Amino acid sequence: MLSIKNLHATIGDKEILKGINLEVKAGEIHAIMGPNGAGKSTLASIVAGNENYEVTSGEISLDGEDLADLAPEERAHKGVFLSFQYPVEIPGVSVTNFIRTAINETRKAQGLEEMPANQMLKVIREKSELLEIDRKFLSRSLNEGFSGGEKKRNEIFQMAMLEPKLAILDETDSGLDIDALRIVANGVNKLKSDKNAVVVITHYQRLLDYIVPDFVHVLMDGKIVKSGDASLALELEEKGYDWIKQEQEA
Ligand SMILES: Nc1ncnc2c1ncn2[C@@H]1O[C@H](COP(=O)(O)OP(=O)(O)O)[C@@H](O)[C@H]1O
Ligand SMILES: [Mg+2]
Repeated sequence: MLSIKNLHATIGDKEILKGINLEVKAGEIHAIMGPNGAGKSTLASIVAGNENYEVTSGEISLDGEDLADLAPEERAHKGVFLSFQYPVEIPGVSVTNFIRTAINETRKAQGLEEMPANQMLKVIREKSELLEIDRKFLSRSLNEGFSGGEKKRNEIFQMAMLEPKLAILDETDSGLDIDALRIVANGVNKLKSDKNAVVVITHYQRLLDYIVPDFVHVLMDGKIVKSGDASLALELEEKGYDWIKQEQEA
């Protein structure tokens, strides 16, 4: 599904990604871990098409299609979803209206008609029930006065509604409390299927107590320096990141 080959990227004249290789297949959950400043959020932003970064070499493709020339919205329409660490507040636009617009824009880009209102309501009801989201929450103004947990609930609701092929969740925000972690994990676990894939970026192992990844990758200084299964996350929790550096230097 997602294939990243030898990706190098810079911001200004600083090289941040120094040759990333990553293959994510449908049905898989990958976790990317690593110390602060390693380039995790940069990688997520670049896959989503953030134009502040310059890709100097390498390629990113989704289902075999090169993403290089696609704008962020076009990538979203093709099924790439990136959670926002710092979501914008939109007073007067409800959670529901925002998602309705997003869905219809995607459908338009795919040459489909708008989703009929009754079908939209039905899907909203189904997804909010699945994720145990209160109906009252759906009529609130987007992100206005949202707590950390409510922001996560909104993000996971958007993910559920948009049914992305590839969801990238950047959870580096260390302010995530246990409630927020559970919301994210519950969403990922319930929405997981053999048709989609999830990349969870996290600084801490604790999110992975709730989401069991198929693969764990350690990103350090712009490179994936180690990959393994879920047990690698536990090893990192126990030993930190320094041993990997030492292992590399040895
Ligand atoms: N907009 C930016 N301008 C300058 N440097 C940046 C910018 N964004 C990221 N960086 C630098 O790139 C490196 C990687 O950052 P980031 O991807 O946020 O790391 P992580 O998410 O792993 O903590 C850091 O050294 C950071 O300072
Ligand atoms: Mg980050």
